[in-house]
Amino acid sequence: MPEATLHFPPDFRWGCGTAAHQVEGGNTNNDWYAWEQGEGHIANGQKSGLACDWWNKAEADLELAAAMGQNAHRLSVEWSRIEPSEGKWDDAALDRYRQMLGFMREQGIEPMVTLHHFTTPLWLAECGGWENPAIIPLFERFAAKVVQSLGQFCDLWVTINEPVLYAILGYVAGSPRGETHHQLTFPPGKHDLDLALKVIENLLLGHSAAYYAIRRVQPQARVGVAHNLSYFQPLHPNSPLDRFIVGQRERLMNRSGLDGTLKGLVPRAIGSRRVRELANTSDFIGLNYYMRSVLTFDSSNPGTLFAKEVVPASAEISDLHYGEVYPEGIYHLLKRLGRYGKPIYITENGIPDADDDRRPAFLITHLRQVWKAVMQNTPVMGYYHWSLVDNFEWAEGWNLRFGLIEVNPETQERKLRRSGELYAEICKTNTITTDMVQRYVPELMESLFPG
Ligand code: FCB
Repeated sequence: MPEATLHFPPDFRWGCGTAAHQVEGGNTNNDWYAWEQGEGHIANGQKSGLACDWWNKAEADLELAAAMGQNAHRLSVEWSRIEPSEGKWDDAALDRYRQMLGFMREQGIEPMVTLHHFTTPLWLAECGGWENPAIIPLFERFAAKVVQSLGQFCDLWVTINEPVLYAILGYVAGSPRGETHHQLTFPPGKHDLDLALKVIENLLLGHSAAYYAIRRVQPQARVGVAHNLSYFQPLHPNSPLDRFIVGQRERLMNRSGLDGTLKGLVPRAIGSRRVRELANTSDFIGLNYYMRSVLTFDSSNPGTLFAKEVVPASAEISDLHYGEVYPEGIYHLLKRLGRYGKPIYITENGIPDADDDRRPAFLITHLRQVWKAVMQNTPVMGYYHWSLVDNFEWAEGWNLRFGLIEVNPETQERKLRRSGELYAEICKTNTITTDMVQRYVPELMESLFPG
């Protein structure tokens, strides 16, 4: 068997992503905590609880990340800790984040900090959260405060995580009849497309206000948004209706966030509105990629804008039918993103796989597609696997396990998964080799390296 090595660029960032509410534990002052208390909201009535105890012990896991050869990590700060009530700053909380980021720097890990990753302080949620444009200047002030306090350790910022998906899961996915279905429903559990568009608009304007605020405090800052993009395809490529449905999804789910922060276009039910101060407010593009979604036209389903998701017979599906594993999707999306002419970070990519029997192959096949895009001059600067540790997976609670490190939330025990060992080899060598494939996923040898 011939030997081959796929080399990544010399200064490539290798890391993982986490979010405050999913790992810190003890976050009781935000809308997600309140949502967790409601019956039927989280699978099996689970709660974030102590999560991965990062508020006390993040360092232990970050040290493991460094030992795995990771040189970058994406985490978020919890607004409800830093500003527990309007205009009151908690210096102890900011000090704790300074400690975490300082520790990361000591370990040779470059932080990327997200300012809003799904959770909103209760005092703000009670005034309508992102439905109410009053949040925009408050988010701008929060961003400035965080950058003043933490800027010594970080100059790479994500303002908002997945603004479009956040609005869809919180404002469209709720049941029209008001009953709760935990899967894929976020607080406040509403079902109103117009309201979702309003929320997207406020998030985009919040982003641009924060963008300028950050750049004022820290002129060298690089600021972007983490966009969740799926790879949409029509079931019948020759069917104009299927293609129309895919175009609709593309426009709403994939392009509206990008066109918002790069071209200044705020999406409407039909068309868009141009907002000058929003244009060109991304120094980089963050891509969160998880799955392919194959769609067909379904006249009986106006609630989904006449789209029906179809799982192809050949599809490989991850735990609890989370989504279709489709490595080529990340390549096609990266190529498309390359056209915006901005640096790209893969801010999330991962698979729920409690048994870890698919994750090693997932890593190899997806990273090979990333490598291919890089070889074709797509400016991918780094890759943050989701996630370092199993954590509180929102409405799915602890049922979906995304970690390279297994966590038992009751005992807080850790165990490095085999995929974690593989990722460590990739990070340390900045390569993927035939030898790694041979040892971790020999069944892929023939398809990846024929002959
Ligand atoms: C993304 C979220 C992240 C995590 C992964 C699995 O949409 O940004 O917090 O839940 O999905």
